Amino acid sequence: MAGVYKNVVGTDTSKQQLAFASKLPNIHYVQTPPNMPLSNLERKVAQHETVDLVTVAQAIHWFDLPTFYQQVKWVLKKPNGVLAVWCYLEPVVNEAVDTVYWKLYNESGPYWDPARKLVDDRYRSIDFPFEPVDGMDHTGPFEFVTERKMDLDDYLTYIRSRASYQTAKSKGVELLSKDVIENFERAWASEDGNQKVVHYPVFLRIGKVGI
Ligand SMILES: C[S@@+](CC[C@H](N)C(=O)[O-])C[C@H]1O[C@@H](n2cnc3c(N)ncnc32)[C@H](O)[C@@H]1O
Repeated sequence: MAGVYKNVVGTDTSKQQLAFASKLPNIHYVQTPPNMPLSNLERKVAQHETVDLVTVAQAIHWFDLPTFYQQVKWVLKKPNGVLAVWCYLEPVVNEAVDTVYWKLYNESGPYWDPARKLVDDRYRSIDFPFEPVDGMDHTGPFEFVTERKMDLDDYLTYIRSRASYQTAKSKGVELLSKDVIENFERAWASEDGNQKVVHYPVFLRIGKVGI
């Protein structure tokens, strides 16, 4: 984003998440509460109808949507300002690793927030009151695949970063038990190469604000 736009404002409710974000001269980070009055939005994030693009990566399913959409429509330039939101689904490695992953995923069920259902549904059913962008006749979801090279440590770090893992841990449940880690180690070693390409399916909803 910072390579395309002159000014980028990155927001999150979590200070910790912002601390991990890349620092660049044209990105300004702001910690925002889940519900912020318009006057604070104007002061801390952006002024009325000044923004070309709002994006949300893997988070809109947790938002209070009526409030968020009111704020997006207030900051976006009319009529062509764009909202783009995306989620990604489960990582795909190979049959052996994915089998261990899906067993773990099914066991994590009680620790997922109910909002997770919108992700499992690929954002198909999320309310999205925006107009198709030029050249499109709908607002998605449009499917992409993103790839990342990972070794087993990277992959387990990703699992530990997930909301369901953190929730289970806060309730005294270790989802990555010794047995599960051994199963991942065996599965990871069953094909050549410590570094593997991990694929994530991405689902994008995109639309413009209109008049
Ligand atoms: C899966 S992370 C994605 C982080 C970042 N967008 C990215 O792609 O790396 C989800 C983020 O949503 C944030 N979040 C959760 N509820 C929120 C809310 N109501 N408003 C704003 N951010 C929220 C969390 O703090 C967390 O950083």
